[in-house]
Amino acid sequence: MELRPFFSFFGSKWRVATKYPQPQHDLIIEPFAGGATFSLRYAERLIRLYDLDPVIVGVWDYLIHASAHEILALPADVAHVDDLKVCQEARWLVGFWLNKGTTQPSKSPSRWMRDYQYRQPGTYWGPTIRERIASQVSHIRHWTIKQASYDSIPSVAATWFVDPPYQEAGRHFKFHNIDYPLLGEWCRCRSGQVIVCENQGATWLPFRPFRTIKGLEGKRGGKKSVEVIWTNDEGGRHTASEEECQSHMQALAGIDMNSETIAIVGEQSL
Ligand SMILES: C[S@@+](CC[C@H](N)C(=O)[O-])C[C@H]1O[C@@H](n2cnc3c(N)ncnc32)[C@H](O)[C@@H]1O
Repeated sequence: MELRPFFSFFGSKWRVATKYPQPQHDLIIEPFAGGATFSLRYAERLIRLYDLDPVIVGVWDYLIHASAHEILALPADVAHVDDLKVCQEARWLVGFWLNKGTTQPSKSPSRWMRDYQYRQPGTYWGPTIRERIASQVSHIRHWTIKQASYDSIPSVAATWFVDPPYQEAGRHFKFHNIDYPLLGEWCRCRSGQVIVCENQGATWLPFRPFRTIKGLEGKRGGKKSVEVIWTNDEGGRHTASEEECQSHMQALAGIDMNSETIAIVGEQSL
């Protein structure tokens, strides 16, 4: 079943998710989860999400475990999330729906929500969105979310959808301190299929043009984002040898590869 976004998030790939290459593995890993909109398109597969932001992790953990009944019991009318007698994670979920395309949940309805809520009932928090989320939660029970940095995830054979904070525009995210050359080497050393997203101008991998996305309408109209892509199955340096990967990662990060190897073996059952 194809699911619609569980929350609106800055940098969401929802509208272009089906234009990326189809996943070749049953296991899909999103090391920079955010709204995880690529995985939503293939929700019945094994989905493993990771993010550094405790708010993102909290919202996904809540959604993965919440019953439809619990979601339907959330208040539909919200003036301020701190007034809600619900858990913090549910407040964050509602807060993401009080605005559009933000990196953090809002506390009270945005001006856009106040103006458009009744004309566009499926855009902001209200009975329509609550109903939609309630109808979808049973489809993500088998997903997992972990608060961890991308570089701690073992390299298992999977489809890796890598959508980090962009080198130029990524500063809007609470967590955006990325060593891009290291991330590029990390991407090359993943096992399986690797799909990497960036903006035009990024050079930390040999990206090729992908799509132009129109941003959300704002005061100055939707800003255009020129997206680029790198995958490891179209002539980029494919899978590096084990030794190449070890020496690259050691050189760039000074990682003790012996302890890393033990961690990888320990998580083979993913
Ligand atoms: C561009 S967003 C992902 C958007 C997502 N693909 C979507 O469709 O909604 C990038 C995410 O990476 C997370 N992040 C930043 N640094 C990270 C790190 N070192 N490890 C894991 N996640 C990180 C941010 O918190 C943010 O949620």
